This record gives sequence, structure tokens and C-alpha cells, in this order.
Amino acid sequence: MVAGRLVYCRPAAKDWDVLPVFADYPAICAIVLGIKLSSGGTLATIFGRKHDISLITPMTKLAILEYPDPRLRKTAKPIDVVDDGVRQLAGDLLETMYAAKGIGLAATQVDVHRRVLVLDVSDERNQPLVFINPEIVSASGRGPGEEGCLSVPDIYEKVQRATHIRVRALGTCGQAFEMDAEGLLAVCIQHEMDHLEGKLFVDYLSELKRQLIRRRLEKERKQRGDSRAGSGVAIPGAPASGVAMPRTSRPAL
Ligand code: NI
Repeated sequence: MVAGRLVYCRPAAKDWDVLPVFADYPAICAIVLGIKLSSGGTLATIFGRKHDISLITPMTKLAILEYPDPRLRKTAKPIDVVDDGVRQLAGDLLETMYAAKGIGLAATQVDVHRRVLVLDVSDERNQPLVFINPEIVSASGRGPGEEGCLSVPDIYEKVQRATHIRVRALGTCGQAFEMDAEGLLAVCIQHEMDHLEGKLFVDYLSELKRQLIRRRLEKERKQRGDSRAGSGVAIPGAPASGVAMPRTSRPAL
């Protein structure tokens, strides 16, 4: 598996190593810490360094749409400019993913139809990755892997995917990068990229299996007294308690 360190637009600073991926980019690091950076604001300190800060913007836990919500079928649009709004979205996606104990989340799953996805496949849960406008440059190998999805809670099935991929994307300050991925990371990237196309891992299964899954999810929603029972539709802006929470220790994406 590829270690989850990406090089962002600034050289690494040793004292930022606690957040390895964002270490090179103070703004996204600040997003992870729930702090909005802006020029012309007052000075504040993050990890002993002074930064201009205009206001505190806590990250938001967003409601995750559940299968078979039709909004999961929308195709996400590319990001034209990586600005503070996109960085805030990335921070909110990470917050939502960690809260739901997932290892990946695409913007589509929180009803934002832009091409942004986040991942963290590290055991320590401290290597967040952000991919903006991701594209597969090359793919090789093929093998089955068990997948789950925060939008299809507690369902795990084997899916065939490329075992090695090279992906190109923009980072959190708009710079292009490429990285090689294999194993779980490769599976996660492909799974999340499917979300951006309105595709779910259950689409790789038989119609019969999909029907069984739909019925099981509907029954579970009824059992937990979910007002969304029967519709399969998450309420926009619903509190984070309404998100899909995995009840098993297996990771979902
Ligand atoms: Ni998923």
C-alpha cells in the first residue's frame, strides 16, 4: 500500500508533521483544525507559528445520503478554481468521514455535486488525503476486494477492480499531482471516483442482490425509527446523527 503522503505546494515544515498530508499547506491544515485563514485578519498561532486569521470556521459534519437516494446518481461537476470554499468542503468531508468512521467519502455522498473526494486508509487515522478533479491515468491488474460504503450502511460485498492505478488530481492549493496506488488505497480511490459519476458499488452486483440490499436497508431504517424509512432519502442539512454509522468494525467508503 502506498503511504498517504502527498506533496502540497509548500516545502515541508517539520513542526507540521503531526498532519502529514496537510503539513505543507497551512490553509488546509487550518481547515483540519477548524480555523479559517485569511489575509488582513488578526494574528493567531497554530503549532507555534503566527498566521493571519480572520475568523474561526469550525468544520461541519454533513448528512450522508443513503442508497437508494436518487441524488447519489448525479454526476459531479469539475472544480474550476480551488479556493477557500473548496478547501472548506474538503475539511467538512474529512470531518464527516472521520465522524462516521469511514475511510473515504466523496462530495456526492453529502449532496454536493463537485469533483472532490477525501480518504484516510491509515491505521492511525492521521493521514488525510484530498483529491480534486481526480482522473485515472493508468490501471493494471484485476482482483476482488470486499467493499462497504457509508451510503450503503453495513453491507459488504466483493467487487472486482484494478489492483494498481496511477491517479492525477489537484491538491488543496490547486496544484496538479500524480500518485501511484495499490491495495486498499487503489480500491478506495476507484470507489470514491465512482461516486462522482453517480455510481455505487452495489451496481457491480446482480439485480437480485441489489433488491435484497434495498429491502434490508429499508427494514433497518424502520427499525431505528428513521423518519426517512421507505423513501431512502436523507434530509438535506439533517444533523450528523442522521448519517450512516457503520455498526461493524469493517471500514466503509
Ligand atoms: Ni461509498
